[in-house]
Amino acid sequence: SIFPSEDFGSKKVAKEIAKVITEKQQKGENAVLGLATGSSPILVYKELIRMHKEEGLSFQNVITFNLDEYYPMQPDALQSYVYFMDENLFNHIDIKRENIHIPDGTLAENEVMPFCAAYEQKIIDAGGLDIQLLGIGRTGHIGFNEPGSTLHSTTRMVKLDPLTISDAAKDFIKEEYVPQRAITMGVGTIMKARKIILIAWGQGKAPIVQKMVEEKISEDVPATFLQQHANVKVIIDEAAAGNL
Ligand code: GLP
Repeated sequence: SIFPSEDFGSKKVAKEIAKVITEKQQKGENAVLGLATGSSPILVYKELIRMHKEEGLSFQNVITFNLDEYYPMQPDALQSYVYFMDENLFNHIDIKRENIHIPDGTLAENEVMPFCAAYEQKIIDAGGLDIQLLGIGRTGHIGFNEPGSTLHSTTRMVKLDPLTISDAAKDFIKEEYVPQRAITMGVGTIMKARKIILIAWGQGKAPIVQKMVEEKISEDVPATFLQQHANVKVIIDEAAAGNL
């Protein structure tokens, strides 16, 4: 769906997420959310915080799994996705700390593989992702699944694409300070979500949005795999829709 602005689109996405949470609440079940970082979801989180404060939306029954984290990365670093999620969402809502999961950028190299296997298992044990929120990188990545990522990839360590590193430079002062690697859920992990919402705002995303929607499915643009998902919504503004 194309919305006149990021603001309108973000409110729609927040409503969808809140609906999943309240429907689960009514059944006495947990809602399992897959969450994203980056600039794209900030207004979505802002609206969820507003709904919490003004409308009593509770996150007591919410379990979250974030898509990715840089590696290596300390959680208290300004660029960490742990810091981002605390600042932009978790510190402002009533979620239980033990229900928050974010890939760990502080692991030793040899701890990464077992951690990733355990992350997959935790998602399964929680009942699977009810809804996954996604942004899109200009390489066509979802999470940090860069070109070359396969349909059935799972949570793992990846190397970042040079374009992703240059896009991230604004957060790290200098390009050479951007970590070369990250831990990310796989395409396969994301595809198992029962519902997916991908958001993109602004003209800068127009070329990759066009490829994701109109090009044939290929590892060269991992976001094209979403074309195969049975319940995906792409929510963008007029500018990001500019090349469709
Ligand atoms: C980041 C994240 C992705 C995000 C993408 C776009 O590096 N790892 O999950 O979707 O790149 O970022 P932004 O929303 O800032 O454009």
